[in-house]
Amino acid sequence: MADESDSKGGTGEPVIRVEALSKVYTGRFGTVKAVDHLDLEVRRGEIFGLLGPNGAGKTTTVGMLTSMVIPTGGRAWIGGVDVVAEPARAKQVLGVVPQETPSTARSTSSRPSTSTAATSAWAHASRAA
Ligand SMILES: Nc1ncnc2c1ncn2[C@@H]1O[C@H](COP(=O)(O)OP(=O)(O)OP(=O)(O)O)[C@@H](O)[C@H]1O
Ligand SMILES: [Mg+2]
Repeated sequence: MADESDSKGGTGEPVIRVEALSKVYTGRFGTVKAVDHLDLEVRRGEIFGLLGPNGAGKTTTVGMLTSMVIPTGGRAWIGGVDVVAEPARAKQVLGVVPQETPSTARSTSSRPSTSTAATSAWAHASRAA
């Protein structure tokens, strides 16, 4: 039987594809090149760690992949869906557990969540209670 896995254990089409993804923040204090032409692919079944020193651009990269940060260059696809052109569809195929969100930062609960949507739903339910 043919083994379709690559050297990193992933198989098939990339579930995350990033091409020349870039972000330059522009503000009162000048410009910061946070992500500079990043290329990567993550395939189904692959465990991918994005490591780097403080300020390397990890959070900005995840922000762009989750359509929270608008890239200034390049493109990215989640499950084949362009995160800039179709952010709502891209989010439907994502599960994200952020380090902190505005809602969890205010919450006194340690109840875990499995996605940003679940976090938002829990915060909403807490306010309604
Ligand atoms: N909203 C913003 N406005 C301006 N500059 C920003 C903004 N967010 C991040 N930066 C800058 O972009 C660069 C990358 O920051 P980012 O937070 O993506 O890095 P990081 O790898 O997640 O860092 P850390 O390990 O500290 O979490 C840094 O120089 C940071 O100061
Ligand atoms: Mg970070």
